[in-house]
Amino acid sequence: MTDEDGGGRDDVGTGSSGDVVRRERFSGGPAREFLSSLAADERIFAADIAVDRAHVVMLDERDIIDRDDAGAILDALGEVEAAGHADLPDGEDVHAAIETAVIQHIGDRGGRMHTARSRNDEVATCIRYRLREDALVAAEATIDAREVLADVAEDHTDTVMPGFTHLQPAQPTTVAHYLCSYESALARDTDRLLDAYGRINRSPLGGAAFAGTPFDVDRERTAELLGFDGLVRNSMDAASARDFLVETTGAVAALATTLSGLAEDLVVFSNLGHVELDDAYASTSSIMPQKKNPDTMELVRGTAGEAAAGLNALLSILKGLPRAYNRDLQRAHPHAFEAIDAVAEATGVAAGAVATADWNESALEAAADGGFSTATGVADLLAMEGMPFRTAHELVALAAERMADDADVDAAYAALAAAATEVLGDPLDAFVDRGAVVAALDPVESVASRDSVGGPAPAEVERELSRVADGLDADRATVDERREALERAETRLDEEVTRRV
Ligand code: ARG
Repeated sequence: MTDEDGGGRDDVGTGSSGDVVRRERFSGGPAREFLSSLAADERIFAADIAVDRAHVVMLDERDIIDRDDAGAILDALGEVEAAGHADLPDGEDVHAAIETAVIQHIGDRGGRMHTARSRNDEVATCIRYRLREDALVAAEATIDAREVLADVAEDHTDTVMPGFTHLQPAQPTTVAHYLCSYESALARDTDRLLDAYGRINRSPLGGAAFAGTPFDVDRERTAELLGFDGLVRNSMDAASARDFLVETTGAVAALATTLSGLAEDLVVFSNLGHVELDDAYASTSSIMPQKKNPDTMELVRGTAGEAAAGLNALLSILKGLPRAYNRDLQRAHPHAFEAIDAVAEATGVAAGAVATADWNESALEAAADGGFSTATGVADLLAMEGMPFRTAHELVALAAERMADDADVDAAYAALAAAATEVLGDPLDAFVDRGAVVAALDPVESVASRDSVGGPAPAEVERELSRVADGLDADRATVDERREALERAETRLDEEVTRRV
């Protein structure tokens, strides 16, 4: 549909700049590029088309514009959508460029589209509309990664490995227990993203510039047509609020920080020969032919720095902004989008690396036995036999100081017996059976004995894994429900548009 009653001027109200906003007086100059967000706005192109459609449908339903104009505008929006972001006329941003394009298609009456709204509520709505999808993608990436961790853990409930504190062997644990520790952390990352979603998915549309509008708009209706769960009610808050970006990027930065720890561990474990990454997740050196480097994990680790920087950039841009709208805001949301893209991708890569890695069971078991890592278990045994734990700690510490790193069971027992005579003034076997001490010195037995809630004993980890499976099902259902709600809204909006074109 072109120019039926719109006067047919290409540059209606647009001055020589071809932009509905940048009239003659503001048409050019050295800051033109600097002012424009059109390129970055590609991210919200589809969102803006949807927001325009919902707004026009509502304006028609409220008789704020007539059905004929609504149909023409919706028709033009279809053309603009089909041509794509790259075909938009020049403009200060995607909102202005789409409006310009609509006016180019149908003339002056296209200018009715911007009745009862502002770019301020429009852009805030577009960012939320787009970010909610991205938040679901990121949340789903965390769920997928948790499933991988749980699946690999399932195969390794009996695979003993050294657990570290201060990067020193500390107590034996299992690969399953280790992997489940990251599943637990990532479950909180899923939670944070889904929680943030609830506050992203509120509609600011109808708040106009910040001060509301005299038109009889139906804010609930546009919210419904766009799949929002409710409104950002106060119109000044609607235009100004960007705390949803802060919390989403905060959730993403926390997720990236979780992943950076996993990545660091995998770098260290690769170095120790405890795990081997699949070739697909490693790289080599351009000069040193023997190298197999855990590059993907290093890149995952690095991504956490970018996400933290993005969060910092956001907070710094938002800090001290006066009410209500300030153009600084144009530079805020790209940080959230960049961070969420980078971290969602890193989450998938980390999951792929874990899914395909090979745990070196014999090397892990040998390492779990080194460095007297069962010392705590021996002290626990003595305390269970009635010795004050502090005395047991002193006795075992004395034995540890004198014991060679590679001491076998007999040497370890001898060192403990000598320490007992010194500390207790009695032989060790007067206090506890030799067999019990020997068992406590065995990493496998040691792990099996630690069956407190959430502990590494295989039976306990298996119990936890069934809770993990329940949590995964529940979180997947939440993501699916939200996606379905968005799809239903999309269908409703399509139907309303189709009835008018
Ligand atoms: N492109 C702007 C942004 O992203 C929206 C335009 C509002 N501009 C204005 N001068 N009120 O924030």
